[in-house]
Amino acid sequence: MTMSMAATHARGKKAKDNIFVMNARAQEDAKLNGKENVLNGTLGSIMDEQGNIVFLKAVEKEYLNLPRNEYVAYAPIAGLPEFLEAAKSECFGESRPDAFLSAVATAGGTGGVHHLVHNYTNPEDIVLTADWYWGAYEQICGDNHRHLETYPLFDAELKFNFEGFKAKVLEVAAKQENVVTIFNTPGNNPTGFSLTDEDWDKVIAFTKELVANGKNKFIIACDVAYIDYSGEKQTVRRFFKKFSQLPKEIFVVVCYSLSKGFTLYGQRVGAMIGITSDADVDAEFKEINALTSRATWSNICRPAMRTMANIVSDPAKLAAHETERAEYCELIQERARIFTEEAKELGLPCLPYCGGFFLTIPTEHAKEIVEELTKEHVYVIPLKHGVRIAACSIPKKQMHGLAKTVYNVMHRLGHL
Ligand SMILES: Cc1ncc(COP(=O)(O)O)c(C=O)c1O
Repeated sequence: MTMSMAATHARGKKAKDNIFVMNARAQEDAKLNGKENVLNGTLGSIMDEQGNIVFLKAVEKEYLNLPRNEYVAYAPIAGLPEFLEAAKSECFGESRPDAFLSAVATAGGTGGVHHLVHNYTNPEDIVLTADWYWGAYEQICGDNHRHLETYPLFDAELKFNFEGFKAKVLEVAAKQENVVTIFNTPGNNPTGFSLTDEDWDKVIAFTKELVANGKNKFIIACDVAYIDYSGEKQTVRRFFKKFSQLPKEIFVVVCYSLSKGFTLYGQRVGAMIGITSDADVDAEFKEINALTSRATWSNICRPAMRTMANIVSDPAKLAAHETERAEYCELIQERARIFTEEAKELGLPCLPYCGGFFLTIPTEHAKEIVEELTKEHVYVIPLKHGVRIAACSIPKKQMHGLAKTVYNVMHRLGHL
């Protein structure tokens, strides 16, 4: 047996990072064979049509021209007040719910998911999400001694599987008081799927029914990391309004991130925003999550918070920022459209893409397919039940023909 100094609960933990490994292989290949001959669809960052990482201009200008002290000084643990207001304003747009709304700064959207799991479930509890989910949810649950369980995201018609969701919630509700469900919408990672407003109506009506039993409490978590690349700004935010005046046993937590919407991935800034009709739940939310921040990372990146607050409070800067961002949103959607249209013509299966950074081809042979694709200098990500393609990072000229390459490889391997 290998020697371990780790405490028993920590033994055997592994920070597997397939995505960064695949990206490193793509970069190595590009060095050897030329960037233009390698297709890198691994990472969730926007690349422009020349393959360079995008830094949205209004953000770059603001960030690089802050007063000196903003780069150096500590920020309050709960976040700069101006940032928290700006986060609520940008997150909800015109669809601000009629409820108590409080925000706590977090280390990216990841930090919000961490606090949610840590503070709204008990050790060994189940946390629910759909079966097409971002891998970090499982890691966060595992590291906090919680269990991530899933319901099927799609029904036979590839629509939101409300019945599957309901059945799984009832199962969990019979075992524990707090039911925490993470919805990654709009623009789900890895599929690009979004719940419709009607899906939300059903979910909310059902949660109301459930908490009327007097036993359960329901926490709806919305991971909206891709909201700014999922369609028209106000349309994709309409569902937030449905969280107005909910019963006090239903608490909504939005995990908001600056990584994508402000291209500040590396700055690690986000906010968790609580939506409740109960003043005590609101006050508790601020206290417990600020304490968990203090006990986990203390305060977060001040210059990035200040940058965002400055842009959002200045209508001209915000308008310029939104115009540029909307252009990239359109570009990503166009890239996705190229792929899905070609896939459809070929009869290559593809999960329904509504928005966000990624597309997914469902298959039980992802590893083998992805390995074979590397021989064609194509680098994408194998998932348990599919192949994930980062539309955010593949230029249009490389997107043309990609469906055919994948189709040929799957065909050759006998997986179509
Ligand atoms: C589904 C999902 N949620 C949240 C995030 C949050 O990222 P960050 O912690 O950088 O804000 C990501 C980023 O990859 C994501 O894919």
